[in-house]
Amino acid sequence: MCGIVGYVGNEEAVPVLIEGLRKLEYRGYDSAGVAVLGKPGLVVRKAKGALKNLEEKIKVETGGSTLTAGSLANSVLSGTMGIGHTRWATHGEPSDTNAHPQVDVSGKIAVVHNGIIENYARLRDWLIERGVQFTSETDTEIIANLISYHYKGDLLQAVLDAVGRLDGSWALVVISVDDPDRIIAVRKENPLVLGQGAGETLVGSDVPALLEYTREVYYLEDREIAVLYRDHVDFYNDEGKSIQKKTTHIEWDAAAAEKGGYEHFMLKEIHEQPKALTDTLRPRIITADAGGVNDTAGNKGAVTNNAKKISLEEIGFDASWAQANRVMITACGTAWHAGVIGKYAFEHFARIPVDVDTASEFRYRDPIFNPKDIFIIISQSGETADTLAAMRMAKKGGARIIAITNVVGSTLAREADLVMYTWAGPEIAVASTKAFTTQLMCINLIALQFGVLRGTIDPVHLNKYINALEAIPAQAEKILSGKENIQRFASLQFNKNKVFFMGRLFDYAASLESALKLKEICYTHSEAFAAGELKHGPIALVDTSTLVVAICTQTKLFDKMESSITQVKARGASIAVITWEDDAESGRFDRIADEKFRIPRTEDALSPILSVIPAQLFAYYCSVLRGLDPDKPRNLAKSVTVE
Ligand code: G6P
Repeated sequence: MCGIVGYVGNEEAVPVLIEGLRKLEYRGYDSAGVAVLGKPGLVVRKAKGALKNLEEKIKVETGGSTLTAGSLANSVLSGTMGIGHTRWATHGEPSDTNAHPQVDVSGKIAVVHNGIIENYARLRDWLIERGVQFTSETDTEIIANLISYHYKGDLLQAVLDAVGRLDGSWALVVISVDDPDRIIAVRKENPLVLGQGAGETLVGSDVPALLEYTREVYYLEDREIAVLYRDHVDFYNDEGKSIQKKTTHIEWDAAAAEKGGYEHFMLKEIHEQPKALTDTLRPRIITADAGGVNDTAGNKGAVTNNAKKISLEEIGFDASWAQANRVMITACGTAWHAGVIGKYAFEHFARIPVDVDTASEFRYRDPIFNPKDIFIIISQSGETADTLAAMRMAKKGGARIIAITNVVGSTLAREADLVMYTWAGPEIAVASTKAFTTQLMCINLIALQFGVLRGTIDPVHLNKYINALEAIPAQAEKILSGKENIQRFASLQFNKNKVFFMGRLFDYAASLESALKLKEICYTHSEAFAAGELKHGPIALVDTSTLVVAICTQTKLFDKMESSITQVKARGASIAVITWEDDAESGRFDRIADEKFRIPRTEDALSPILSVIPAQLFAYYCSVLRGLDPDKPRNLAKSVTVE
């Protein structure tokens, strides 16, 4: 998410920055901006919306019909060094003010940033105490002011000092009026690449921004620092020691580069899940000694458990929410599946009645509202027409609303009482993957926090679940590292026209999402069944042409699953099982399954976050093998903003 470009050379910087940002548009964004070091000093221009809005703004100002060196030459935007950014909003909604670059109070230091600063609230208070007045809602403005605070004549040192105080993740590119010949770039967990052209050096958040200038790029590693000059780049480690780096030759064409070397956005987004899950979880978990958050009674939405706490303070969640008599969850498509899993999670962790409904049904029913109902509305885009209608209806009925969404400043985010962002980054493929698993992360966190506040989860269990949640990103990575196994299986099964997913409890909910993936991108007739319902109808459909994928992670129901699998196998179906690895109990499925996919052990209640990943990969590979475009399935839209 977000696109970064930095340029120091001999050409006018603005056209280079705008063209670089254009190459990064695929990453998704909601506003754009550039900062140039020119004759009058630091000049910043920003605009909400498409990059062309920024371009038009600059064209009008410089009097040119196109953005050329000639039209810029006599303007304040003339300069041969600058930084640019396309922003995907995190802290603060999309607006001109919140767009990057962000500048410190002296107006001398400009910063573009990709990532999330977790301790931004504390740093912001600290800077306010020292007289800093903020103009935006961004965490990035804090970084600009921290650098400014530490600046004692050496920009590199100031960046190092400031970065040393940040928690979270970042890719930062910094320029300063007082250091007019170099750009500083530093990263942690967000990509930055650098390239050297003839008399010019560039930095970008991805290769496409550099391809016009060079195919030899340096990948910056975590905590490394790059200092860009017109004719060379210096690299340092996090202790400030000089290091040597080798270039990598880029073979990809520009289109492949946009996808980070993956063939499709969907595959890229499937692979982004470990990082997205980390981004969703980490800011919401704090250790008891981290300070800054009140405990007990949950007044600040945080609860002590001797070791770790869930903190939903950031979203304004307090104990009053957990006094609800009932939770209602409403959403569409994949987000509704997250809601079904949410129902099971709430009942399990918080012992509270939950209704879950598709928004398109809910809005035309005669639902009964009670004053102490709370609504959880889930939507990747935050713009789905049915979902918004359901939310407005619930609001009218007097319910309080928690939104789970991926898009800051979306209609849902603006109209809900509380918003929990999924921080998955832009999702471009129509079929949802990383948005779904991060929605599950969010709903589990809320359900667990409800449980804590209602006294249904004790500190020991909370700790156990937090540890399990923290292990999930690495476990997801492990599943992805075995993707060839799923690819091979897809090569045997991709022509199947009848695929049933079945499971019980959380596995049934995961089956719903798994079946939807195949429908969406393979146009396969795939269905999900609660395994216990087989005998009430679906088994009549099973024959030798059927593939049945049984998701088996609910340990207490393994006997029942074994029996259901045996029944479909007896009717000639091919059987694949998704179950735990390293689990003596799950070994029983070896005997009856034609194919097994083993996933790392987590708590039974958290299993869908992992069990859906093999199904996502299976659908992806089947789609490709059928010669389809998994990113753009027929008849479907990413965001359904009309009824
Ligand atoms: C469309 C998309 C689905 C998505 C659903 C709900 O049908 O193709 O992937 O799950 O809308 O979208 P939302 O943005 O509200 O999550």
